[in-house]
Amino acid sequence: MDKKQYMVIFQPSSRRGLVDEGTNLIEASRQLGVDIEALCGEKKVCGKCKVRIEEGSFEKFGITSSRSHASEWQEEENKFVTPAQKKEGFRLACVAKVQGDLLVFVPEEARAGKQIVSKAARDIHIDWNPAVKQYYVQVVGPTFEEPSGDFERICAELERNCGLKNLNIDWYTLRKLPRRQRDGNWGVTVAVWMDHEIVRVLPGKVEDCYGNCSRVFVQPSNHGGHQDCVHDESTMQVRRRRHGPYHLPYDESQGTRNHE
Ligand code: FES
Repeated sequence: MDKKQYMVIFQPSSRRGLVDEGTNLIEASRQLGVDIEALCGEKKVCGKCKVRIEEGSFEKFGITSSRSHASEWQEEENKFVTPAQKKEGFRLACVAKVQGDLLVFVPEEARAGKQIVSKAARDIHIDWNPAVKQYYVQVVGPTFEEPSGDFERICAELERNCGLKNLNIDWYTLRKLPRRQRDGNWGVTVAVWMDHEIVRVLPGKVEDCYGNCSRVFVQPSNHGGHQDCVHDESTMQVRRRRHGPYHLPYDESQGTRNHE
């Protein structure tokens, strides 16, 4: 049988919503997007979650709130709520459970905003939209009848299947493209940055994809043009990519460009 639900309103945020009977005020606040400090993880030993239950009929909010609409007072609350505060309606939010409509004031000391101690796992929806996405592309090799270039064939396939148009590729990736396509028997995994530039091509279908955090800054080069300095947070190395009239020499044995 479905549980009864009651209207709970938190002040000063005015967040409101229906909450199942028997839900404690901390859980109710989470459900309604209000964070009440719960340093002890609702073990009733920190006293940080002290809130005030308002008494009376509140026309503005359309509810009648009463202290009797919360569960019974418990022994643990005496440690943190003085008799005077008790008279004003203060309760520990981890103790008081919803048993009727409630208007709850959350004092500044009890507002978290920085820290949430959650006892149960929750589903959080995250929109997945990484800057670099990988696509597997299978193309047909060139023939006398259809002698288009390797890059053009990949672009045509990405446009047809993934809607990616006007793609660029840097010369370093472009240089490797013919070899990688043939190694993968015309099937390659292509990494595309911001749906705009091909930044990596690997033979075959590659499903491992690891995130990386980099800071990029631009500085003038001694040789004219400019260079992007990529600070790779995972390896703590600085890689530089120079643009302008000069290219960096490529070190085949290392698989990198030597900028020294
Ligand atoms: S969360 Fe610590 S006493 Fe309520």
